[in-house]
Amino acid sequence: MKKLRVYVLRSRHRPNRDKRVTTHLLLAARAFGADGAFYSGQRDQKIERSVEKVSESWGGSFEAEYVQDWKKAVKKWKEDGGEVVHLTVYGLPIHDVIEQVIASPKDKLVLVGGAKMPGAAYELADWNVSVTSQPHSEVSALSIFLHELFGGRELSKTFEDARIRVVPQAKGKKIIRVES
Ligand SMILES: C[S@@+](CC[C@H](N)C(=O)[O-])C[C@H]1O[C@@H](n2cnc3c(N)ncnc32)[C@H](O)[C@@H]1O
Repeated sequence: MKKLRVYVLRSRHRPNRDKRVTTHLLLAARAFGADGAFYSGQRDQKIERSVEKVSESWGGSFEAEYVQDWKKAVKKWKEDGGEVVHLTVYGLPIHDVIEQVIASPKDKLVLVGGAKMPGAAYELADWNVSVTSQPHSEVSALSIFLHELFGGRELSKTFEDARIRVVPQAKGKKIIRVES
């Protein structure tokens, strides 16, 4: 059976305001099991490079790709047979829709905003999903959404070809370098 692909689209990145948040969002996407990400807004190669470096050291093939126009990227995703989940405080509560999202075998694109999202995002999405109906952040919303989507399995995901790994400790820090 074909493995479901899950990508994240971070729209309307603004390097001056969002640099750390976008980096954290992409690292959370990777750590919590997404296969890759797109971002739109202003291109920021430092972010792409820092995500690439994390994957080189910590494994897996997660990459962040710049797309000029988030709307075109969403339309292309749908034309290619995928579905779109837009995370927004105004959406339906996650527990009301997550089973439907999981039941659909199509690839998923999870759209998160930075600046205010235009109405088209709500129209193009197959689901507008809210993680609590309270405003918080794209990082927390995405993390909880992926956790619910993967049913917690993402917490024990292993990343292939890692050069370094944490050896969990009750106290202190231990990292090993993996020989290739
Ligand atoms: C900090 S919010 C930006 C809010 C912005 N001021 C607006 O009016 O849209 C950034 C993103 O976090 C996500 N977000 C924030 N709270 C959320 C919630 N309760 N449920 C789902 N997503 C949420 C949405 O993707 C939103 O576009």
